Amino acid sequence: MEQRESWATRTGFILAAVGSAVGLGNIWRFPFQVGEGGGSTFLFVYLLFIALVGFPAMLVEFVVGRRTNRNPVGALSELGQGLWQKVGWLFVATGFLILSYYSVVAGWTIRYVLIGLQDGYVGNVAGANEQFGSVASGLDAVLLHAIFMAAVIGIVALGIQKGIEFSVKLMVPAIIAITIGLAAYAFTLDGAGEAYAYYLSPDISVIVNEFTSVLPGAAGQAFFTLSLGMGVMITYASYLDEDRNLVEDGLAIVGLDTLIAFTVGLIVFPILFTAGIDPGDPGAGAIFVSLAAAFAELPFGGIIGAVFFATVAIAALSSAISIMEVVVSYLIDEWDVGRVPATVVLGVGLFIVGLPAALDIIFVDVYDLFVNNVLLVLGALLVSIFVGWIVPELGRSELRKGIGDLGIWGTGWIWLVRIPVIITLLVTIALGAMGYYDFLTTDFADWLNETL
Ligand code: PHE
Repeated sequence: MEQRESWATRTGFILAAVGSAVGLGNIWRFPFQVGEGGGSTFLFVYLLFIALVGFPAMLVEFVVGRRTNRNPVGALSELGQGLWQKVGWLFVATGFLILSYYSVVAGWTIRYVLIGLQDGYVGNVAGANEQFGSVASGLDAVLLHAIFMAAVIGIVALGIQKGIEFSVKLMVPAIIAITIGLAAYAFTLDGAGEAYAYYLSPDISVIVNEFTSVLPGAAGQAFFTLSLGMGVMITYASYLDEDRNLVEDGLAIVGLDTLIAFTVGLIVFPILFTAGIDPGDPGAGAIFVSLAAAFAELPFGGIIGAVFFATVAIAALSSAISIMEVVVSYLIDEWDVGRVPATVVLGVGLFIVGLPAALDIIFVDVYDLFVNNVLLVLGALLVSIFVGWIVPELGRSELRKGIGDLGIWGTGWIWLVRIPVIITLLVTIALGAMGYYDFLTTDFADWLNETL
């Protein structure tokens, strides 16, 4: 077997993890959650979740990956006993499922770059909805799904250093620079003042009155945006050497992800307010509908929209390669398959599994809700129980490497994992599973009735 790869530089690892973390979750979901969740009050609660739940859970995945230097399946079968040995499977299966439809959604973003540059966006929400409908499913969507998947295959096939590390060194700085540039542009728009007031005004009453939905929403978002619960951070950390300080790296990753999410809000809301489009209740096709309609109202909106959607496409690509790497690392480590054949065969398989989502948008929801509400949370829950309760000493000793004595922080970390992280995940999965059941018995059942 060939020597296992590793990151060339510390920055390479951090940028790859940031590239994974920054994706549709930051650009679409986050700003709207803040807007509707009570502005800065929500932001405060969210930051608490990130710090007290998301960050410790990220360290859990890091220690599992670096200790074993293996993919999630190999890692858990090495560290665990009995059923714990099987938990890695969940990560690989989740990764496979996510990427199959993530690629469809990413395909839409490519189409929206082209629309901005060519025909232009349609300038009212109803019309924009129709435009989105014609792009989201059908032959166009299948083609773009294929193109995006080909890009993912191309990068991952080149390997950790030449493929992933090299590409994120271009993509992540580009995402950061364009985001700052667009936020500066948005600052000059007429609606900026009103938008900042909406985005940032504290409204404690929303959280007090709706905490049963706002709190699990904030918790779920914290896991999703940090790419937790599907083995990405296990896999990426498995390519690390022992002298790295996992806590410092983790802080950099979490900090950058949060900053970018926050800055995107400073872009999205001024644009919506300036175009006079209501930011409330955006619905599923959201950036592709209300924001696209807003671009149509702005001078040079086509070009600005194209830049915006190009950023989304890049962010999606740098997340997609991390998901692909989870499954590819499994095939390489456990089956001794070469990287290139593993990536190509997998990419073709993913393309096929994603086809329903490209042909009918309802399947994006069928996959996405199952993944986000159930699988991701379950993966994060199981690995947190494993490290927190079954092998805490192993976790602590691995975290110490590259840092030295953890003192009280080591114990603090284990207890954060043992109680708040696990409780948060249990509550989130209970609500999430109920939500998915609701979806299957209402929207999806309606669709089945109409179609069959
Ligand atoms: N973190 C990504 C985002 O915010 C989504 C993602 C989840 C990527 C899980 C990889 C793994 O959009």
